[in-house]
Amino acid sequence: MTEIQTIGVVGAGAMGRGIAQIAAQAGLRVRLYDTSAEAVAAARESLRQTWEKLAQKGKLSAADAQAALARVESATALTDMSNCQVVVEAIVERLDVKRDLFAALEGVVSEDCILASNTSSLSITAIAAACKHPQRVAGYHFFNPVALMKVVEVIDGLRSAPEVGDALAELARRMGHTPVRAKDMPGFIVNHAGRGMNTEGLRVAQEAVATFAQVDAVMREQAGFRMGPFELLDLTALDVSHPVMESIYRQFFDEPRFRPSPITTVRLAGGLIGRKAGEGFYVYADGQKQVPA
Ligand code: NAI
Repeated sequence: MTEIQTIGVVGAGAMGRGIAQIAAQAGLRVRLYDTSAEAVAAARESLRQTWEKLAQKGKLSAADAQAALARVESATALTDMSNCQVVVEAIVERLDVKRDLFAALEGVVSEDCILASNTSSLSITAIAAACKHPQRVAGYHFFNPVALMKVVEVIDGLRSAPEVGDALAELARRMGHTPVRAKDMPGFIVNHAGRGMNTEGLRVAQEAVATFAQVDAVMREQAGFRMGPFELLDLTALDVSHPVMESIYRQFFDEPRFRPSPITTVRLAGGLIGRKAGEGFYVYADGQKQVPA
């Protein structure tokens, strides 16, 4: 397999821009595409600001910051992915939409291009089944915020060629991340082992055993997690994490450990989805997290 020099990123939201950031910082050329041209423009602007701040803090030279930005090209059509050696998908968490995208990508890229999905909860095997060459497809599950969360799950679907996962793992190391290989099971590792903390935390709150803030404080200070479940749900945002909870629950045939809670259903419907909305389990004002009255 030729050395990866150009990576395509489809989906310029929170995850896509993070993947673009670490790839460009590692010297890769990045083609960033989104059905929304505004999302691509916003992602490039956010990357510019990120690199400017890193340069101000002395973590990157001004020249390196400029060079990194120059390596991120805005793609205006999927066909702009044609010269990529890897395309990483970070679009909406829906199997039908991801399958359509992967099938369309196969018509654009070369035969040996790797197609990777950043899905949190969907089956890699099911996504790959939309492709003529499912062996080129694997999972590449980064965490939010990508630049700071240095682990990535590399997931082998039932038909993934092992060397595809090997190449993604090697690429992750080039980007300063630690790859962890997982099998294609619902939630892979983190959203399988870690999801229980969210669902149990929600049950503790639902049974009025303790408040959201109390649960978070205990999990942080006593159990040693960097964030409690409600802080984490606010960071991820319920529009992203609620469908993941539902999907994992269904895929494990209604396993009670993974059952979502009406607490998140109601909050999602009401727009109290997390930090990005200014309000979730906490209220965010002037960059500060506050416990609602
Ligand atoms: P987001 O909502 O911030 O961004 C998704 C972007 O995809 C949007 O800009 C949207 O316009 C674009 N998009 C939707 N359909 C498209 C299509 N067919 N073609 C091209 N662009 C399309 O979502 P986020 O948070 O970046 O998540 C993306 C993926 O990453 C999801 O699969 C999610 O489950 C996964 N993920 C999210 C994490 C998180 O904490 N936010 C963590 C790990 C994985």
